[in-house]
Amino acid sequence: MDKVIYLDNAATSKVDPEVLDSYNQITLKYFANPSSIHALGQESSRLLDKSRDLILSTLKLNHHEVIFTSGATEANNLAIKGYCFANRSRGNHIITSISEHPSVLKTILDMKEFGFEVTVLPVNSKGVIEVNNLKSAITDKTILVSLMAVNNEVGAINPIKEVGELLKNYPKIAFHVDMVQAIGKINIPLDNVDMFSIAGHKIHALLGAGLLIKEKKIILKAINQGGGQENALRSGTNTLALSASLAKAIRLITSKQEESFKKVKILHDRLMNYLKENTDKYVINSFYDDNPYIVNFSLKSRKASVLVEALSNRGIMVSSLSACHSKKENYSDVVYAMTNDMVLAHNTVRISFDKDNTLEEVETLITNLENIMKEIKQ
Ligand SMILES: Cc1ncc(COP(=O)(O)O)c(C=O)c1O
Repeated sequence: MDKVIYLDNAATSKVDPEVLDSYNQITLKYFANPSSIHALGQESSRLLDKSRDLILSTLKLNHHEVIFTSGATEANNLAIKGYCFANRSRGNHIITSISEHPSVLKTILDMKEFGFEVTVLPVNSKGVIEVNNLKSAITDKTILVSLMAVNNEVGAINPIKEVGELLKNYPKIAFHVDMVQAIGKINIPLDNVDMFSIAGHKIHALLGAGLLIKEKKIILKAINQGGGQENALRSGTNTLALSASLAKAIRLITSKQEESFKKVKILHDRLMNYLKENTDKYVINSFYDDNPYIVNFSLKSRKASVLVEALSNRGIMVSSLSACHSKKENYSDVVYAMTNDMVLAHNTVRISFDKDNTLEEVETLITNLENIMKEIKQ
């Protein structure tokens, strides 16, 4: 395929050449195991610690600890299971929401097998939870609330600041936030957040790099056993080059956050205007001027998979459902929760931007959307 227009950045992003360069250099130079006590091992260990410090200083966090993982799925599992197993003597109730990524929702539902009670909050027509519903769901047995900052399908932004402020009044409850689609893109105040997860591959780092950041005072139980790396919370030989290059990617994306936001907002506004002018064909599922990175819409009377395939044949990559849905779950939970309409939930299209996308690419997308919609009507 000659020229590809990649508009599926919420599924995964292209690695930044500078980050890849760091990865390559570190792989060659710091190949020794950071757990080895010889001089080379200790050099690797120092670089690992410097990477943690760089992440914490970039994110302006003072009382926190970084646990490197293989990605956000592992970080979410560690946060949820690790917290619940370590703190079960304090209570057995967990609260989450219906719009969470499966790595949170399924993990929390799984905790029922271990005697935990689970409340799954609904989302409103804008795709976010209502703080009052959360407040009513809290009981004296609640020990964990886990919510995503930004929804990966429609881009909805949960009221993380308000939830954090509410939960300050409940010292027994830890607040975990899935920051995967927010970090480096949207400002989310993390003051009252106890733990949060990040995936490297969504921010131009390498696949296989992720992390959980937690307040030092939060106690977790390791969910897999081994050599005791990462403060005994994530055993397995450290993947130094992945971790150090992730630290670099976090610094790069954060330093360009405002500039990237402005660029992406122009693309978002152009596409939204086109969709708003064509409400006979499309129903818009994203209403978030403050998150221009994801635009989600449903086709009123055509199959989204046909449109996505036709765009792909023309070199334009977009998603119908988010990449994390298994093939048999062929509708969007969050769009169904927002609209209560199964046809719309089956026929969602997600366009997800990156700072390197251009207005010209969006114009090409719009021209192709027009043409394909005419073709599939016939
Ligand atoms: C919101 C959200 N959370 C978690 C994940 C899982 O991340 P990973 O692919 O690193 O396991 C994703 C990936 O799509 C996501 O979008």
